[in-house]
This record gives sequence, structure tokens and C-alpha cells, in this order.
Amino acid sequence: MNILIKNIKSLVGVLENSSAALKGADLSQLSQIENAFLAVEDGKIAYYGPMDELSGVSNWNDLEIIDAEGKFVLPAFCDSHTHLVFAKPREGEFVDRINGLSYEEIGKKGGGILNSAAKLAEMSEEDLYQDALKRLDEVKAYGTGAIEIKSGYGLSVDAELKMLRVIKRLKENSNLTIKATFLGAHAFPSEYKENQQAYIDLIINDMLPVIAEEGLADYIDAFCERNYFTVAQLQQILAAGAQYGLKPKVHVNQFSSTGGIQASLEYNAVSVDHLEEMTSEDFEALKASDTIATGLPSCSFFLNIPYTPVRELINNNSAVALASDFNPGSTPSGNMQLVGSLGCIKMKLTPEEVINATTLNGAYAMELGDELGSITIGKKANLIITKPMPSLAYMMYAFGENNVERVILNK
Ligand code: NIG
Ligand code: FE
Repeated sequence: MNILIKNIKSLVGVLENSSAALKGADLSQLSQIENAFLAVEDGKIAYYGPMDELSGVSNWNDLEIIDAEGKFVLPAFCDSHTHLVFAKPREGEFVDRINGLSYEEIGKKGGGILNSAAKLAEMSEEDLYQDALKRLDEVKAYGTGAIEIKSGYGLSVDAELKMLRVIKRLKENSNLTIKATFLGAHAFPSEYKENQQAYIDLIINDMLPVIAEEGLADYIDAFCERNYFTVAQLQQILAAGAQYGLKPKVHVNQFSSTGGIQASLEYNAVSVDHLEEMTSEDFEALKASDTIATGLPSCSFFLNIPYTPVRELINNNSAVALASDFNPGSTPSGNMQLVGSLGCIKMKLTPEEVINATTLNGAYAMELGDELGSITIGKKANLIITKPMPSLAYMMYAFGENNVERVILNK
């Protein structure tokens, strides 16, 4: 099926050549064509331009024509950091936090990630898969077309493999483009509290070889944080992942700066994510790299913690992406429009910067920038058609509203 979208109020995110994530001030460069058309052939963006140049459609048969009068067309969101496969929500901890406990205190008491792991151990692969499939439909309805999903609520050989096999099935059966990240190093199971090295050995010797053998992961991750994984432990894990060709995408600097950014850069991390607590050394280290700095504003909102200083990162010439962090503990939402609103309201990004950070740079944060994330001829046609809107800024302004009318996805 080929598609012609006509009378588009504004075609957003037009990029003639896409070669790398947008660094520094380039993040604000978002090209738009008003009163535009866009043609999709064989699932790819084939032509686009102003309406008065509408031509070049080579095959008028088997063509769906969509009239987008008053509507915007933009690349579907590329959500580069989620924990979308999980067993149960954790609203009890939400109430605990209202009553004064912090996220870290809940974790220390055996709640948090360990709570999710206990629930996931009891759940069948089939039920996990069915629930995750529904969540994918929900995030798609808010405009997400590509998504990274982590393991990390297994924390045993069987349960980590179960999660990753669920993600593999999602990859095969969903029309979203999916990348899988192995996050066995998310928390130490209680039985390994006194012998942390034994758990790291389990990750390295018993989990990673099977994951590599079955092709279950694209990336490797660890939660590098006080009370979780130290920099030395992160280095062991990233070194082991590198043996199997797994590049890092790492949780760092959420509550404290411990040197995790520098360690991740040594292993050529594709992205470093969270970054709520940054030192001047951290900014400097990132400045010299192509690693993408990913902010997760809906996590900051939900936990009431500082927001990633994305303006300073941009001024420092880093490439900034925004992602949802969808998970049951710190961010029970995968709504990328809300991420965009928070990006504007709390991080002071412009709507144009938000679109680039959630589309093109999100795609590069999953190494999908050559095929997704912008309106570029030859890229896959993963598109959002909005509801009628007065302006692009309206999408971020009208926080909580779903302004996505239709999502077109091609794999
Ligand atoms: O990115 N911080 C570590 N991991 C997740 C939260 C995990 C959880 O609380 O379940 C995050 O916020
Ligand atoms: Fe996360």
C-alpha cells in the first residue's frame, strides 16, 4: 500500500541528509514545509514538498490518499529508554513517597526494583508478553514508533532470559521498531547482598553467553549509582558485554555522580541516561564524545528529583535526547507528548528542540538514525499525523492532551 498525505498544514522535521545526532545549538534546527504533501512508497518516504509542487507520484493505483488539512505531520517519536516489560504496577510505593519515604529509602528496604523482580518471577512469559503488547499499543497511540526496552526485573538467569525472550517476541510481532537492552545489573538480589561479586559472575558467566547465543540483546546497561553498582562493577559488566559486541547504554548520575559517565565513555557508550546530578568533570567528559546524553523528564517529575540540566549540556555541545523511562517504579507513563511538555516547561527547551530530542536524537540513541527520526527521502515512513492544531507549540503547551490522531508505522 502506498500513501499520499496532502494539504499538510506543516510537515515537520524535514532533513535532506541525516548523518549524525544533532549536537549543541543544532538541536534547534527543525525544518518545516507549510502546506505540504508527503508520499510513501513501499513503506519509505518517497517524495515530499509544498502542495503546489505535488507531482512525482509514480503509481496512482493502490494508493491511500489522506487529507491532512489543519494537521501536522512529523516523524514518530523514538523513545530510547524504557522498561516497558514488567509484571505489576507499584502504586503502594507511590503512596509511601507521599508519606515521606524517598525512592532510595524504599529501595534499601527491599522495595523498588526488588519488588518488581519478585512479582515478575511469578508471572508467565505469555502473560508478560500480552501485557507488554498492550502497553506498546498505548504508547503508539501517543505517537511512539520506535522504542528501546530493557530487561532488569529478572535478576536471575531464568527471569532475565524470560524478559529478553518477551522483548524478542515483541520485536517480531509488533509494528514498532524495537531495540533490546540487557540490564541484569539493575539491583543486587537480596541473596547476593553480602557477595556482590557472585551476582556479577552470574551475569558474566551464566546470563551473557546465553543472551549472545540466542541474540537476545542489542545493548548492555547497568544502574551505576550509590547503593546499586559501583564504577568498578560497571566496568566489569561493560567489559564482558563488549566481548559479545554489546555496546553500552547506561543508567548514570540519577542521584549521585560517581564516575559512571567516564567509565561508560571508555566503552564507547551509545548513550548515558538520567544525568540529573552532573559535575563540571561530567560535562567536560561528555563534551569530547559522540555519546548521546539522554534526559528523562517524566522520571524527574514523578520522583520529584532534579531535572537533567539539558540546557547546559546543549551549551556544552553535547547531543541531547529525551526519552520516557516508562517503568512501574519511577515513571509509570510512556507518553512522549508529556515528555515533550516537561522538556519545555521544566527544562526550558523550545518545542523545536523537543521534537529533535524525541525523534532524530532518540533514533540515534538506538543507532536507528539512518532509518528513522526525520522526514528524509529513503527513511522508513514512521509518521505521526496530529489532530488539527493551531501551531507546533500547541502540542507541548496542551500538556496531558493527546494530539496524535494517527500513527503510520513501517518496519
Ligand atoms: O530508570 N533507576 C533505575 N531504574 C529505573 C527505575 C527502576 C524501578 O524503580 O523499577 C529508572 O528510573
Ligand atoms: Fe531507566
